[in-house]
Amino acid sequence: MKTELMPVTAASIALGASLMAEGKLVAFPTETVYGLGADALNGRAVLKIFEAKGRPADNPLIAHISDKSELAPLVARVDERAQKLMDAFWPGPLTMVFPKSELIPDAVSAGLSTVAVRMPSHPAARMLIRALGRPIAAPSANRSGKPSPTTAAHVFEDMEGRIPLILDGGPCGVGVESTVLDLAGDVPTLLRPGGITAEMLREYLPDLAIHPAVLHPLQSSAEARSPGMKYKHYAPNASIVIVRGTPEQIAARYDASVAAGKKTAILCADRAPYGDRFAYELGHDAGEMASRLFAALRAMDDDGIEAAFSEQTPTDGVGLALTNRLLRAAGFQVEEG
Ligand code: TXA
Ligand code: MG
Repeated sequence: MKTELMPVTAASIALGASLMAEGKLVAFPTETVYGLGADALNGRAVLKIFEAKGRPADNPLIAHISDKSELAPLVARVDERAQKLMDAFWPGPLTMVFPKSELIPDAVSAGLSTVAVRMPSHPAARMLIRALGRPIAAPSANRSGKPSPTTAAHVFEDMEGRIPLILDGGPCGVGVESTVLDLAGDVPTLLRPGGITAEMLREYLPDLAIHPAVLHPLQSSAEARSPGMKYKHYAPNASIVIVRGTPEQIAARYDASVAAGKKTAILCADRAPYGDRFAYELGHDAGEMASRLFAALRAMDDDGIEAAFSEQTPTDGVGLALTNRLLRAAGFQVEEG
């Protein structure tokens, strides 16, 4: 299959919607990461997503809507908490998990009784949903196990020959996937941190719980509230170690690794303390760091890096999302300087 890469225009959106109406897959930009979309109400089309990504069949997808009014038919009920959160954070990078309605095919919910829904703020995503006239089921548009794509070129790397169309809307602003909040149970639980932070949610949900898997390895797969938690994520070929220490200690680790003959890199806020050592600079603000992390992880593979040492990252605000993704990329290897 030939994969077309087209800038977002009225014509390419119309083409994307007509391909999806025929049951085909289209990759499109959102404010978080690129999505790999299918008509969410067409179970057979949705199954193609799992095939194109190499995604385990038990990992459910997010249904994307273009207007709050499109939520009610997809879910069994919308309680007062969800209503307030929608008013506060939609459109935007917040996904909420609800008890599902009968309209949701099993392929979307992977057999669960719940469905995850979000209303993205990216205009191209909303235009595409509106043009299709149905919700779009979309995971991140990477091959399973690779970092989520934050540019159309990343999507092309992973999906060339597998899908007919990629809509190019430039780099994604947030750069990490949406916050996933489980509202289907009694205690609202943060399953995946993202651009809508725990601090922001707590203003509306004083009893918000943070699932332990956000910052710690899962003890057992029974503990996974989100099937996505069970799977290895975002791992580059390099072994990454997060070093709790000073730049001098990180530089010493780097030097020892180079001396051992390994192509080595540093992940840091600022390259200045590391002289001419090979470093990926993420920036000083957690939001900026989060938006650059996935591109750096992909660059590591392109650059043939075998070992990498990362500075510790913050866990407040968007830092929680950044640290959650970095810990997974590092396979939870955290060591003292
Ligand atoms: O920002 C995003 O959320 C992007 C863009 C494209 O919208 N999408 C995305 O989708 O990251 P995906 O499939 O890569 O991640 C969805 C996560 C997975 O960890 C999945 O297990 C979880 O949401 N999830 C989906 N439905 C769920 C449900 N009913 N209950 C619990 N977790 C669910
Ligand atoms: Mg994903």
